[in-house]
Amino acid sequence: MPRHFLTFQDISREELFKILDEADRMRADRKRQDQLLANKQIALIFEKPSTRTRVSFEVGVNQLGGTPIVLSGNEIQLKRGESPEDTARVLSRYVDGIMIRTFSHSALEEFARHARVPVINGLSDLYHPCQVLADFQTIRQAQIKLENMKLTFVGDGSSNVCHSLMEAVALSGGKMSVICPPVCRPHPDVIEHCAKKGLKVTVSDKWDEMQDTDVVYTDVWVSMGQEGLASQKRSALEAYGLNLQNTEKAKPGHILLHCLPAHKGEEVSADLFEKHAHTIFDQAENRLHAQKALFSLLYANLP
Ligand code: CP
Ligand code: NVA
Repeated sequence: MPRHFLTFQDISREELFKILDEADRMRADRKRQDQLLANKQIALIFEKPSTRTRVSFEVGVNQLGGTPIVLSGNEIQLKRGESPEDTARVLSRYVDGIMIRTFSHSALEEFARHARVPVINGLSDLYHPCQVLADFQTIRQAQIKLENMKLTFVGDGSSNVCHSLMEAVALSGGKMSVICPPVCRPHPDVIEHCAKKGLKVTVSDKWDEMQDTDVVYTDVWVSMGQEGLASQKRSALEAYGLNLQNTEKAKPGHILLHCLPAHKGEEVSADLFEKHAHTIFDQAENRLHAQKALFSLLYANLP
């Protein structure tokens, strides 16, 4: 069975820290040409738009000696109704790995069940684990210990990024709070999974949870695929935009992370964003290093 990375449930705590250590080595030696993926073809499928994921995976696969094959969802038969199952079975005959950005998480699971090569989740409606590998690398780069940190996510608690953050904190051992309106709470299954792992995520519609926060995090209010809900989400989240005032209670020296793209004036004010821009763009850069490190985990033991 190939090794997939669809959520943080696919790796152990020890593996998470191994990936982060390897990602730091990749960052320290960023132009190194590796041979980990030599003679390997990696399909990169995008059913939704992307800047960071698209470019960081394509560059990363090249730097590891592999060949990326970028496919937009519109140009393959998935769009015309070919099943995830058949698509996975066909692609597994041609390529050595598949990264896919898609809508339905259960369709992604179905895809992975039938793939004979590793499948990486490049974002689904429910999770965005590759983003969070880079986020954790950035937190460590800021000298904040994952095991002791308090991370507070503000905004759409039901977003794929928030869910992956919750599951990753459940693995690493820090604390996590989500400040969101009642209609944007995280998915109950994700809360329950974290609770089983020993992480009780505090979810609140009050700002008090900002107290003692080491890492403040936000994501867009309207995720890709939710365009039809845009006005509902904007009005539910109106009072949950981050700004210089409402982040004042966070711990001195805290960092602000944003997965990007940012909608300044919605989830984050332009001045707060600029105050933390250096960290946010390090975070974007770390997508490249963290994903290359992920390939080391998935491929190091493969023939
Ligand atoms: N953060 C992130 O995944 O960005 P893209 O949508 O540009 O890939
Ligand atoms: N929650 C956002 C993340 C973008 C990287 C979305 O799904 O659009």
